[in-house]
Amino acid sequence: MNPHSTQKLGRTCESCHIDTRAVGLGRGSVKYINGDLKFIPALSSSPDITGLDHPLDAFVDIDGRPLVHTSRPGLRTFNREEIKRILYVGLCLECHGDFNDKVMKNWNPSNPPEPCVNMNYR
Ligand code: HEC
Ligand code: HEC
Repeated sequence: MNPHSTQKLGRTCESCHIDTRAVGLGRGSVKYINGDLKFIPALSSSPDITGLDHPLDAFVDIDGRPLVHTSRPGLRTFNREEIKRILYVGLCLECHGDFNDKVMKNWNPSNPPEPCVNMNYR
């Protein structure tokens, strides 16, 4: 999120729930396999020259391990459960696109809906 720019339009659901950069993982793609989310980074996961074991654009890994230090008290990266909850919503948005849709309207965070039969596993 960029606090230094404002505009009238709100952000789209997708801009947070599908964008792996928004949750701090960096660029890449998400796969839903056997009920769990896997992240495939677009950048090298162990860049040679840096000696790091994670991509340079990652703030956190899919297990919630923070990869950066933050500069303000209370500031932190998302934890594992938060990352997975946010990205899981993203799997549904293609067809259940906003809060007018009954799936989103009825979504209970303490008991999120199972993927439906109509969902394509890609
Ligand atoms: C600015 C980023 C952002 C935008 C835009 C956004 N969300 Fe979210 N959403 C979040 C975050 C952060 C959470 C909380 C995740 C948590 O607490 O674990 C969340 C939670 C949710 C949840 C509950 C998930 C769960 O199981 O806890 C649903 C459903 C959801 N959003 C749907 C939507 C829909 C539909 C839209 C568009 C109308 C939308 N969101 C737009 C960031 C966003
Ligand atoms: C490729 C399209 C598609 C995707 C992706 C998709 N759904 Fe669906 N879903 C549908 C269609 C079509 C229906 C039936 C029409 C309706 O009820 O809106 C449906 C129905 C449902 C229903 C039953 C709604 C009701 O009350 O009758 C639930 C619950 C649901 N989906 C959950 C999910 C969840 C959770 C995800 C993501 C993890 C998801 N779906 C992803 C297409 C999709």
